[in-house]
Order: sequence, then C-alpha cells, then structure tokens
Amino acid sequence: MLRCPADEVTGLLLLSVFAAVLGSLQFGYGLGVINAPQAIIEKHYAHILNIDQNETMATNLTQSPNPIKDRRIIIYWTVSVSIFCIGGMFSSFFVGCLADRLGRLKSMIAINILAIVGALLMGLAKFGPSHILIITGRAITGIYCGLSSGLVPMYVGEISPTSLRGALGTMHQLAIVTGILLSQVFGLSFLLGNDRLWPAILGLSGVPALLQTILLPFCPESPRYLYIKLGREDAARKSLKRLLQISDTDKYIEEMKKEKEEIQKEKKVSVAQLFCSSNYRQPLTVALMLHISQQLSGINAIFYYSTSIFRTAGLSHPVYATIGVGVVNIIFTVVSVSSQKNMVLESFLMSKKKTWISVALCYNLRTSPEHNFTWMSYLSMSAIFIFVAFFEIGPGPIPWFIVAELFRQGARPAAITIAGFCNWTCNFIVGMCFPYIAELCGPYVFVIFAGLLFGFTLFTYFKVPETKGKTFEQIVQGFRRKKLSSAQLKASATELEHLGSTEA
Ligand code: GLC
Repeated sequence: MLRCPADEVTGLLLLSVFAAVLGSLQFGYGLGVINAPQAIIEKHYAHILNIDQNETMATNLTQSPNPIKDRRIIIYWTVSVSIFCIGGMFSSFFVGCLADRLGRLKSMIAINILAIVGALLMGLAKFGPSHILIITGRAITGIYCGLSSGLVPMYVGEISPTSLRGALGTMHQLAIVTGILLSQVFGLSFLLGNDRLWPAILGLSGVPALLQTILLPFCPESPRYLYIKLGREDAARKSLKRLLQISDTDKYIEEMKKEKEEIQKEKKVSVAQLFCSSNYRQPLTVALMLHISQQLSGINAIFYYSTSIFRTAGLSHPVYATIGVGVVNIIFTVVSVSSQKNMVLESFLMSKKKTWISVALCYNLRTSPEHNFTWMSYLSMSAIFIFVAFFEIGPGPIPWFIVAELFRQGARPAAITIAGFCNWTCNFIVGMCFPYIAELCGPYVFVIFAGLLFGFTLFTYFKVPETKGKTFEQIVQGFRRKKLSSAQLKASATELEHLGSTEA
C-alpha cells in the first residue's frame, strides 16, 4: 500500500473515497429499504394478486398486533427481500476479473448501469405487475451490490496511504450503515412510506448511482492497478501526483516495484486450489467462519424485518424503533472506526457474549399476548439496540477487512471471492428463512441465533489469531507455525506409538 510521509489527506483523496463509498451507501440502502414499507407493499401485492387478506391463516410472527397474512404474500415478500442476496452471491464471483479487466474506476462506473436499471424497475412498480418488477429490480440491485461490495474496499484500500488505510477502509461500513438509516428515514409514513409514494423509496437507490457516475471520472485510477497490473509506470506516477499532491513519486514507485516482484515470485492461487491445499486450510476456515458468524448472528433478520418484529413486540410506532436501530448502528460504527486500534478481536469476543445475552433477553420478552406489558416491549427494543451496538463494535466491520490480512497477494483475490460469496449466501439464508423459522418456532427463533453465536464465540476464542499491529507476513507465518506444531505433535505421537509397539 502507499506510504505518504506526512499522511496528509488531500482533497482529491477524500473526494475519491467519498465517490467510491457511494457504492457502499447503495448496498446499505438496498439492505434496509425493504423493512419499513413492508406492510404497505404487502397490501399492494394482495391487491394485485387478488388475495383477500382476511380469509387466510396467521403466522406466529404475525400474532396479535399484526394483521393475518396469506401464505402467498409471505412467499412473495420473502422472495422480494432475499432475491437481493442471490444477485449478490452470483456477482461476488466476478469482482476480481472485472476489476482486473476494466480497472477499478471504470468497473465502478460501469456497474452503475445495473443500479439505475434496478432502481427504475422498482420505482415504476406501480405501473405494472409490482411483485415481478420489485423482485426483478431487487435481483439486479443485488447483482450491483455484490460487485460494489468487493470493488469499493479494493479501490479505497489501494489508494489509501498506509497509516490511513484502517480508517478509510471502515468508511465502507460507515457508508453501509448510513444507507440503512437513510432507507429507514425515507420509510416514515409522512415522507415516502405511504400508499401513494412507496415506489419512490425503492427507486431512490438510483440517485447515489447517478451521483457516483458524475463524480468518479474526476478521480484517479488506483496507482497500484496501473503499475502492478498494467505495468504503466507513467500513468501510475501521474495518478500518484494527483492523489497525494506531490511531485516526487520515486519512493512510491519503488515500493510498488518491490510488491510487484513479490507477487511475481508467488503463484496465483485459484479458488479450487485454495480449498485443496492444506497450507490455506486454517486461514480459510477462519475467514469463512468470521463471515458466517457475522451473518448468522441474525443481524439482517433485524435489518430486514425489525418493523414487523417491533410491531409483534407490541410497540405502537415500530417504524420509529426501526429508525432507532439505524441510529444506534451508525453511532457504534463511528465508535468502532475511532477505536479500531484498541479493539478488533477482543471486542469481537465480547460482543458475541453480550449479543447472546441481549438476544435471549429480547426473546424471552417479546413473547405471547399474556406477557404484553408496555415495559416489556421497551425492554425488548432496548435488547435489540444493545445487540446492534455490540455487533458494530465487534463482528460488523471485521470480516470485511480481515480476509485481506490473512492471505498473501497470491491467494488474496480467491480468498476475497470465496468470503464474499459465503457472506452473501448466509445473508440470503437468514433473509429467506427467518419468517418461516419464526412461524415454526415463534419468538424462540432468536434462541437459535444465540446458540450459533455461542459456538462462534468458542471458535473465535480458540482459533482466530490477533492480527492487530502485525504485518501480512507475520500473520501468515503464525498459521505456518501452528500447522507445523500440530504436524510435529502428530509425528511424535506416531513415533511414541511405534516405540511402544517395538518395546512390547
Ligand atoms: C455488515 C454486514 C451487512 C449488515 C451490516 C449492518 O456490513 O455485512 O450484511 O447489514 O453490517 O450494519
């Protein structure tokens, strides 16, 4: 990565990071936008599909304060929510080849066409078969988000000076949570979350895409891509001069040259090789488990369905509670960004424990009508707030940047691809299955998340190495030593066995 002596943040560096994370903002917006207007859009689906809401069966999730729902509505709704993740799962596989073929900047500009088409389909949903238009629009938006959730951290990481890399890198997560909050605020009934204007909330996701398309052409291409990938030294120097406002670029080029030599020494590792080679087994397990636990913590059950959960918990204004979740989410992401140096994995462990407790608490309280005390509704709301807060200071941002730290350059792109795919798959599983499991288990659905989190906590405690303050090389060596010592243990055990049998 680039090292800038004074570590001065130039205007163009800030503009470039801002323009890039407009993609992350859209990712967050897409995640959260479906939450607040759920009841209104479901009503519209019922109207379009000629479904009489009253003749149908109830679900556990929709006990008492919620209206009774038809199973077809539940299916269309869960598909509308989770098709977004299928799009993301699919496209996350193409991040690496797109970024290398078109370049980081052109890729980010080009994929905005997907964001705009997706937004148009959803924004015009009222003028056609809304359920089809929304599902197609969300699938295309998901494809966009799968690509941008890989391209943005890549570009930001490559243009950031080393000492700012952590702080600028977490701007990706900050933009995601800002996008989630914006979608929740627009969902208020006096803004866009009403019968007349709901398509506009969905369509608004095209605005950051337009803004990004206007801003990105003013930003420089990643100098590392130009020099290391394309071998265009002059262009890399020009980009460095613009980005860091410096005239002497020699030492940066020297640094990149060394990196290029290292890369050339190392063999490029494919996705299949990553799975087969025992050298990568440990870091790969750690990387995947962190992504799986981020998603199976149940965070997106909250971001997709919190309004419905709060309504079930007996709150009279569930949309405001949902906005509260978004605000807590932003506050604790900022806390996490500013204290990144001291926390990382310690907080990850701590948050797991707290998360477990708070979710269980929330669970016990948001139960059947006989427990319907107002204070309990507020207590369950607070439990969700605590859960989200600990998510952000712990497992929220970590999986997105730790994968790059666990692998050398040769295996890094394959590892990032697999990790992204795994994240989107688990996100899909939660989005798709939550309403059905909630229907089966009632409020105890969160106990499942709590159990999973407990398992992940143990895994993290025993298996995840501390990466804070270590170089990539030290981290990789750490895994090597572990592998070696377990191989040595095995060897000495076999030797002992052998000795025992010969003595006998
Ligand atoms: C992380 C997760 C994402 C989640 C968000 C919540 O970025 O990857 O799925 O919605 O955090 O803040």
